[in-house]
Amino acid sequence: MTTPQVAIIGAGIAGLACAHALRQHGIESIIYEKSRGPGGRISSKRTDNSSVDLGAQYFTARDPGFAALALQAEQAGALARWEPNLAMIDDAGIQASPDTQTRWVGAPRMGAFAHYLARDLRIEPATRIGEHRSLTELRAQFTSVVIATPADQARALLPDLKVPAQAPCWAVWIDIDRDQPFDAAFVKTGPLRWIANDASKPGRATRRRWVLHATPSWSDTNLELSAEQVLLKLTEAAGGLLPNAFRVEDGHAHRWRYARPWDDQTAMADACIDAGDHLWVAGDYCMGGRVEGAWLSGVAAAQRIMR
Ligand code: FAD
Ligand code: NAI
Repeated sequence: MTTPQVAIIGAGIAGLACAHALRQHGIESIIYEKSRGPGGRISSKRTDNSSVDLGAQYFTARDPGFAALALQAEQAGALARWEPNLAMIDDAGIQASPDTQTRWVGAPRMGAFAHYLARDLRIEPATRIGEHRSLTELRAQFTSVVIATPADQARALLPDLKVPAQAPCWAVWIDIDRDQPFDAAFVKTGPLRWIANDASKPGRATRRRWVLHATPSWSDTNLELSAEQVLLKLTEAAGGLLPNAFRVEDGHAHRWRYARPWDDQTAMADACIDAGDHLWVAGDYCMGGRVEGAWLSGVAAAQRIMR
């Protein structure tokens, strides 16, 4: 195996994209990841009987290169098209909200897309840079280093870095006993922003497993509540939105401390950051806080390295 020249910190979509683009040009890299596997905010959470997409719910692909990758992943069985019966809920009530957007989901769970991207890459799991190895060590060992973590974690490694703070998101899943008239809804009122029946996505084993995402402001205000309290409060909020009264059979809450930009329109001036001396910083927050943005930012970092 060729000796890696580039170290990448973080095996989320940005880090995986960077490693891929380098590999296509014959440059080997190694990705250091603090968790047990790849995916970051696109990974799915295991539950007793199955799994659930608690982070990214789906993604859209507007860039031609990213759209082509989505088609390849679909052919490999790692991605599928999700065609939910969509609603929009605001103070006026529930309205059907169909559209023609192609929405991609990992199959049979969101994390499958990350595993597909990671299949030929060298990843060192359970290795937190800043704890198990230092950034200084990596910079001495490798020709280039890419920090591909959420913005706040990049700042923990490089305190002078100018990056926007990311908003948290409390996410809940609940198994319920009643069908509902829609599969997912964009919510414009109250503590929730998004609700979706995970089971309506292709290949899922469960039947009525709803995912509830709180707004950035509700998540921030209630950041230190216990998972049990959040589960109760957000389930109650979902009870006010889902038309058919339900009983909860199982459920759990998960806190994403660094989930998304505070403002959906936030994008930085450049697709990645040149931190000097062959150190690069990439991540979704450079390009608007979506899966596609993370991919484009990682590719941009690889292109700068190759220049
Ligand atoms: P991450 O996925 O966060 O990857 C960074 C990786 O770095 C992680 O694996 C982390 O463990 C690792 N890491 C951090 N610090 C260190 C360290 N010191 N050493 C080693 N490793 C480290 N986007 C959409 O397009 N559609 C959606 O529907 C959508 N919904 C979302 C819902 C939620 C609740 C959340 C949280 C996000 C959602 N997003 C959505 C956003 C999307 O998930 C992100 O834009 C994208 O996954 C970010 O990829 P990334 O590689 O930039 O960062
Ligand atoms: P998209 O094109 O489906 O959605 C973009 C935005 O347009 C949505 O947030 C929603 O407000 C609106 N919208 C789209 N279709 C709608 C419809 N049929 N009815 C009513 N409103 C509709 O997907 P895109 O641009 O790829 O964005 C990805 C999604 O990921 C967004 O919804 C974004 O808010 C969400 N996200 C959530 C995060 C979290 O922490 N919960 C973090 C980052 C992204």
